[in-house]
This record gives sequence, C-alpha cells and structure tokens, in this order.
Amino acid sequence: MILVTGGAGFIGANFVLNWLATNNEAVINLDKLTYAGNLNNLSSLKDDTRHLFVHADINDKATVNRLLQEHQPRAIVHFAAESHVDRSIHGPAAFIETNVNGTFSLLESVRSYWQALPDAEKAAFRFLHVSTDEVYGSLEANDPPFTETTPYAPNSPYSASKAASDHLVRAYHHTYGLPTLTTNCSNNYGPLHFPEKLIPLVITNARAGKDLPIYGDGSQVRDWLYVSDHCAAIRRVLESGRPGETYNIGGWNEKTNLNVVHTICDLLDELQPKANGSYRDQIRHVKDRPGHDKRYAIDARKIERELGWKPAESFETGLRKTISWYLANDAWTEQVLSGEYKNWVNLQYQNQA
Ligand code: NAD
Ligand code: DAU
Repeated sequence: MILVTGGAGFIGANFVLNWLATNNEAVINLDKLTYAGNLNNLSSLKDDTRHLFVHADINDKATVNRLLQEHQPRAIVHFAAESHVDRSIHGPAAFIETNVNGTFSLLESVRSYWQALPDAEKAAFRFLHVSTDEVYGSLEANDPPFTETTPYAPNSPYSASKAASDHLVRAYHHTYGLPTLTTNCSNNYGPLHFPEKLIPLVITNARAGKDLPIYGDGSQVRDWLYVSDHCAAIRRVLESGRPGETYNIGGWNEKTNLNVVHTICDLLDELQPKANGSYRDQIRHVKDRPGHDKRYAIDARKIERELGWKPAESFETGLRKTISWYLANDAWTEQVLSGEYKNWVNLQYQNQA
C-alpha cells in the first residue's frame, strides 16, 4: 500500500479517487482536516476497504511512526500543506508549521522506517514530495519558462515555505540516500477546488451574483493544468521517476488572470445564462496582492521526454468540465461556503476596492 498525506484536500482527494479508480493498491490517507480538508471529497470511498482515512497532523510523530510500522507502505505521496498564497500573507506561521516543520517531521519518521527495511524493499521505496512552480519566483514576459535547473527565488511566505521543504527533501536524498522524488507543478484547477482560489472563487461568486475580484490590472500570468493531468503525472513519476530527481509539471497553458475570468464568464453565459446581461458585468478590479508574482510558466519537456507524460486536457476542455462539475455539485459548494470560509472572505475582500 501507499501512504498519502493531505488526501482530503483538492489535489490529494483527486489523486486518491483517481488512484483507487485505476488501481487496486490500498491507500492510507493521513490528513489534519484543516479548513481546506473535506471528508465530503472522499464520500464515494465510504465503504471502500482499500481506503483507510486517519485524522492526524503530519507533525504527530507517534501516529506517523505507528502507521508506518503497522502498514509498511512502499511509498509516501506527500501533498499535505498550507497552500493559499493570500493566507500566507495574512498569517505565515501555519505555513512554517506544516510546510517546513511538518515535512521535516515526516522525513524524520520516514527515514527511520526506511533505514530498517530489508534491502529489496529499501531500494524500491519512494518518498514523493508534491511541490510548486512558485519556488522559482516570477518571470518577465519574455523569459523562458522554468526548468528543473532554474534557481530558487520564492517571493511569498507560502512559496518560501515550500522551497524550504523542497530543500529538506533534497538533503534527505543527498545525505541519507532516501529515494525521494520531487514534482514542481503549475496552477491546478478542476473538481473539488476550494473556492478561495481564483477559478472556483470566480465560478462560485458569479453564480451567487457577487463581484468577481481581479487583483490589480489582471495581467498576471499563470500556467493552468487540469487536476487529473497532475495526478497522472504524479503516478508516472512514482512509477518510473529516478530517485533524487525533480520533475516540472505544467500545462503549456499560459493565461492572464483577466483572460481566465473572461473565459469562465463566457462559459457560464452559455451553460447557465443570466436573466439580464453577462457574468462579465460582475468583474471588479481590486487592490493588488502584495508582492504579486507576475508570471509563472513551466517547461515540462523533461517529464515528457523521460516518462512520456503529457497533459490530456486543453484549458478549454478542462474548464468546461470544471464548470459543469460545479453546476452539478451545489451541495458540495454550499457545505464549504457555510464554514470557516465566511471569515476568510471578510478578512481578504472587505474594503479592497
Ligand atoms: P489544499 O489546501 O486544497 O489541501 C491541503 C490538504 O492538506 C488539506 O486536506 C489539509 O487538511 C491537509 N493538511 C494541511 N496541513 C496539514 C497537516 N499539518 N497535517 C496533515 N494534513 C494537513 O491544497 P492543494 O491545492 O490540494 O495542494 C496540495 C499540494 O500540492 C500542496 O503541497 C501544494 O503546495 C501543492 N501544489 C498545489 C498546486 C495548486 O494549484 N493547488 C499547484 C502545485 C502544487
Ligand atoms: O503555481 C502553483 C500555485 O498555484 C500553487 O502552489 C498554490 O498552492 C496555488 O494556490 C496557486 O497559487 P496562485 O497564487 O497562483 O493561485 P490563486 O488561485 O490564489 O491566484 C491565481 C491568480 O489569480 C494570481 O495571480 C492571483 C489572482 N487572483 C486570485 C484571487 C484569489 C485574483 O486576481 N483575485 C482573487 O480573488
């Protein structure tokens, strides 16, 4: 079996669902259930004996050690993190606690477990660390995309904490020989995406008749990847990636924020037209994010060349699927919006115009 951390969040839950849909290998899913963790994401696995959910913090060494000893996983896929840049600006401490200290604590537990394994299992073991393109910093309009050798230059407390965790993972391979794999992925979107992030926030606000907040002039660029493509890439890296290597994952899909929001509005105009006017009428430019990175773009040629992975979805097909998922899953959104989310929206968006 494999052990996944953060498997109740957006990408982790998509990964666990995809894994069990295509594979019979069991999953232990360790998640702290922060505001971003949601057991509803995993409700279809309620009676699936291949899925064992454990409510715990990656910093809880006793629980992590017990799970490793009891279940003897052949691999760890580490998603658990604080993931929202704006939250890291308001409160960086949680990002250090989970992304840095938590990854360190997990690595220490895994190191002890791995060192005691018999030789064949030791050689086959993998620790896959899921990271982000934000560790590379920000690109100018004409810069080439980030490669695996682009120097780290994180700009937000979130990306700095992820960079620190990447460095720890690298050091555990270099120093102890732990068979690690690191993936640095661009912006994901798709089903189960928490509506604090741009795409689900815009879909949710548009449908509720609320403002669609665009930070600054909306000219910032992100490289969007449909979440199931990210999950497929992680599976390929886990299967055939070379220990100690890092792999960039991206969609070859650079869009300005304004372009993304316009496309969502146009698709909603088609799929769920308003009585009057267009969803574009709800767009509002608001105060910019402090230290806002201008552009991210991933050069994903290494994973394509070495592991044969390429994204299956275009932005148009992926976004259509995403919007259709939100239109068909109001109960999921309502449950999310009724919780801690309200406090966040007040903190982040009040007095922003
Ligand atoms: P998310 O915020 O939706 O989910 C994070 C999950 O981790 C939640 O279920 C949460 O409960 C859990 N968690 C948080 N702290 C924990 C702790 N201390 N112990 C155990 N569980 C904890 O995040 P996501 O968007 O699914 O991102 C998953 C991973 O992928 C993160 O490491 C993130 O840095 C990385 N990533 C995300 C994107 C993206 O666009 N969302 C892109 C590239 C990389
Ligand atoms: O690049 C990968 C990263 O992508 C991941 O590592 C992060 O976990 C993930 O959150 C994401 O970070 P971003 O900051 O790029 O994503 P977010 O959806 O928060 O914002 C996307 C862009 O949209 C960014 O330029 C900020 C802008 N934005 C965002 C929000 C929430 C707005 O203009 N208005 C908004 O209300």
